[in-house]
Amino acid sequence: MNTQSISRGDLAQFAAQHRPDFERWLENLVNFPSVSADPGHAGDCLRCAQAAIDLLRPAPVSAASVELIETGGNPMVFACLTTNPDRPTVTVYNHLDVQPADGDAWRADPFHMTRQGDRYVGRGATDDKGPALTALLGALAARSLDVPLNVAFLWELEEEVGSEHFESAIQASAERLKTDAIVVSDTIWVTRGKPSSPAGLRGLQPFRLTLSTATTDLHSGITGGVVRNPLAELMQVVSSCMDARTGRVLIPGFYDDVEALSLQDEDSFLGSGFSVETFMRDHRVKSLRETDPLEVMRRLWAQPTFEVHGVVGGYTGPGVKTAIPPAAEVKLSCRLVPNMTCQGTLERIRVFIDERFPEVQLHAEPGLDPYKGHTTGPLADAVLAAYRFGFGAEPVFTREGGSIGAVPSMERVLGAPVVFLGLSLPEHGYHAPNEFFDWEQAEGGIAAFAYLFAQLADSLRL
Ligand code: BES
Ligand code: MN
Ligand code: MN
Repeated sequence: MNTQSISRGDLAQFAAQHRPDFERWLENLVNFPSVSADPGHAGDCLRCAQAAIDLLRPAPVSAASVELIETGGNPMVFACLTTNPDRPTVTVYNHLDVQPADGDAWRADPFHMTRQGDRYVGRGATDDKGPALTALLGALAARSLDVPLNVAFLWELEEEVGSEHFESAIQASAERLKTDAIVVSDTIWVTRGKPSSPAGLRGLQPFRLTLSTATTDLHSGITGGVVRNPLAELMQVVSSCMDARTGRVLIPGFYDDVEALSLQDEDSFLGSGFSVETFMRDHRVKSLRETDPLEVMRRLWAQPTFEVHGVVGGYTGPGVKTAIPPAAEVKLSCRLVPNMTCQGTLERIRVFIDERFPEVQLHAEPGLDPYKGHTTGPLADAVLAAYRFGFGAEPVFTREGGSIGAVPSMERVLGAPVVFLGLSLPEHGYHAPNEFFDWEQAEGGIAAFAYLFAQLADSLRL
């Protein structure tokens, strides 16, 4: 297979011809409320997986194997388009579970896909059902060009809750999942028209702090001044851990393992098309802790965080109520950057809190490791060339501030390198109301994936 014989025009034609398939498949998948965070939707997650299998099994795919893999939680979908042991195999990872879609900001039913011009609106359209189906059509396009490669798909349904069962499930099926390279399509570009591929992901360590100082609500007139206030004490704990205005974490050693960015990393960040104004507009933010663009990117992609997500306790209803709560809880998490570990970070937080606030209890939730990727070598080069081919624009390596638990697990267990060919855009609204994907990204993505597969059929043959 010679990539020079692949024409962008032919792929445009392939995409146009298969656009009705893409739209039908996407509507089919988006209409399942596969919300992994809500146990009440476990049945919808299973039905979504089965629908994905039904969509992969028939006509144009004629996959050699399509199966549901049990995990102990929501299942995974695995399909391999051709299985020729003499050919290399590339596995594409996506997830079919989605974030909840509550709130009244949705202009239409989030689980009934609507088409608005070239936009496909619905929960999960861009995160991550649209990119999954784009990769599938890219593989079908490559197949129609007789690209000599096995392309497998691994579609998870627990990504949005931290991929708890993913690693043990792929471990158990490692023989079947054997692969030469892994392509992850679950990331966003910095801006439309400028493809970007992350050379790193942040990890995530969620945890809770609780404090109990009484067993019932107390009258603040009768007891106030003498009794302790657990809500106020937890606020003090949080303020000792971080400076809320600068975001600086005050826990000793918290930044010890953070690697400095290389000049080359900084250069590619500066060439990524990132703009502070656009960032603020896309995310509807009123003001920032920092406005220097490079420093903003460094903080988003290459620095750890200490975040407060929720405070539980006390009175939050209307009007005045003067009780002192007997107990309180704060929900927090840290984003971690490459070279930091969940264990090491938790340990530093635990020691810091134990020494100063021995009655406060720290409850750790399962964490996700950070990930440092590859920006050189044949795989990374193939991703860049695929973006150039698909989108006619010069791509750039950046990093992502978000986390994908499956990524470090796949590299660890399957022993194959991971690269990222993401297709989502900031305005698509990851996790936001009125989330959408668009045909421009799908069309370019189909061509990019097909071209990537053609290159890998060559370079992985070694
Ligand atoms: N696709 C995202 C990961 C991501 C976020 C990539 C931002 C690029 C930019 C993924 O679906 C996600 O939302 N991950 C969660 C995981 C968490 C809920 C365990 C995250 O990062 O918060
Ligand atoms: Mn995602
Ligand atoms: Mn997500």
